[in-house]
Amino acid sequence: MRNTIQTFRQAKEKNEKQAVLTAYDYSTAKIMDEAGINCILVGDSLGNVVLGYKDTLPVTMEDILHHTKAVARAVNNALLIADMPFMSFQTSVYDAVRNAGRLVKEGGAAGVKLEGGREVCAQIEAITQASIPVMAHIGLVPQSVRSIGGFRVQGKNEEQARKILDAAKAVEEAGAFSVVVECVPDRLAALITRSVSIPTIGIGAGNACDAQVLVCQDMLGIFSDFKPKFVKQYASLGSHMRQAFADYIREVREGAFPTPEHCYDVSDEVLDKLY
Ligand code: KIV
Repeated sequence: MRNTIQTFRQAKEKNEKQAVLTAYDYSTAKIMDEAGINCILVGDSLGNVVLGYKDTLPVTMEDILHHTKAVARAVNNALLIADMPFMSFQTSVYDAVRNAGRLVKEGGAAGVKLEGGREVCAQIEAITQASIPVMAHIGLVPQSVRSIGGFRVQGKNEEQARKILDAAKAVEEAGAFSVVVECVPDRLAALITRSVSIPTIGIGAGNACDAQVLVCQDMLGIFSDFKPKFVKQYASLGSHMRQAFADYIREVREGAFPTPEHCYDVSDEVLDKLY
């Protein structure tokens, strides 16, 4: 069944949890889609796990567009959301609508995600009015890592907690169809989930959220630069890959690969003419 923003809304009403993952390439997105994922996010985390940057700030519109197009070619059922990179929407409402439009029109996304609370509500409102669904993102917002002083849990004191709860209500009012809640205490995320009618998508925000999201490379055990507490590794593909690469290198060096089963034949008749 094709997942839409309506199915996301209905899932909250029916108390059905939704599963979201990030993807950045065709082959991975195809497997995820076939496995039945509800939503695929082409996150700006691609800056970390694909492009090797220390944070997401260098990621550009062209980067996100390039990867969204690849994922869009693979997706049949999942709701496809593209992340708006740093400085693609903060600069003005006009830039926000224009860049969101590019992600849908050129990239093939069904909607966009953007980070921030009350301060980006004008952008959320304008993008939504342009008929583009918006997934908001509050709590730990990695694009603000320089101003919040690092990747750390948000909402542990009253002032921060109030601000995050207010942000959730503000983005809902501005028209967001869902909201990612990143790295906040689970009981605060539960309160937010009860306080808004749009689905909350938790990452490091406990089990009460309406949906969960993880970065694909984290949950597959491929990315080893850092491992947040909230990540559960569902596979150790990194070690399988290392082993496969090592086996291949050894077999090539030993002449054990390729064997006849990997080769193409030519008739004696043709070959004899060449001597
Ligand atoms: O960029 C990303 O992958 C994200 C998710 C972790 C929510 O923002």
